[in-house]
Amino acid sequence: MSKGLFITGTGTDVGKTYVTALLIKKLCEGGLRAGYYKAAVSGNEEGPGGLIPGDGEYVREISQNGQTLASMVPYVYRQSVSPHLAAKLEGNPVELEKVAAGYRRLSREYAFITMEGSGGIVCPIRYDKKVLWLEDIIRQLKLPSLIVADAGLGSINSAVLTAEYMKQNKLPVWGFILNHYHDDSIMERDNRYMIEQRTGLPVIECIADGQRELETEAEVWKEMYI
Ligand SMILES: Nc1ncnc2c1ncn2[C@@H]1O[C@H](COP(=O)(O)OP(=O)(O)OP(=O)(O)O)[C@@H](O)[C@H]1O
Ligand SMILES: [Mg+2]
Repeated sequence: MSKGLFITGTGTDVGKTYVTALLIKKLCEGGLRAGYYKAAVSGNEEGPGGLIPGDGEYVREISQNGQTLASMVPYVYRQSVSPHLAAKLEGNPVELEKVAAGYRRLSREYAFITMEGSGGIVCPIRYDKKVLWLEDIIRQLKLPSLIVADAGLGSINSAVLTAEYMKQNKLPVWGFILNHYHDDSIMERDNRYMIEQRTGLPVIECIADGQRELETEAEVWKEMYI
């Protein structure tokens, strides 16, 4: 039976893919079969065989986990808008059953699946005759989450709001990963402290710009997969 972990963030572009790639790389280096999954990705370029899921391609390159791109993301959209709007513009709306089936298929091959969210925690995945929010997918797959947040100015607000929303909606969270962290910044060190104080959740790792390896050991990350 495979185990999974969900990577959400305080918003789009905070570094979910960057962190996920390093996490999968770490697990692979620790000798674990680690796979990547994302339900829907927007803003992608056309390749010879159709749209190429940019996030998946990045994770594959950095982690070298050998996974096929096709198994990484079931829904790939061209335009850089939320999946619910991309589907209105391009067709092919997300079906929860197809997302779950793709995840199940992956679990036969990978012992540890890291699933990346689209956008932040409040993200409409589908909004037509059927309604699907990102959190419905997290619940369906019963995954615990880590929250990626920017370390800089404004991060106390966005990190606390995300954690509070998840708590209120009974989505389990292990803690935070702070990205774009500068250890010599008094403000960023204080942000880390204040986020932990206000949420009661730990900051598990802080990641500097250009960092190529996670410092926390694979054995520690492994315990967060359920
Ligand atoms: N620590 C870092 N050092 C250097 N570049 C980074 C770092 N974190 C993120 N980036 C860069 O910032 C950009 C946005 O990061 P990323 O794609 O991981 O965000 P995301 O949260 O996955 O976005 P999306 O919501 O589109 O999936 C990318 O170009 C990425 O390479
Ligand atoms: Mg991403």
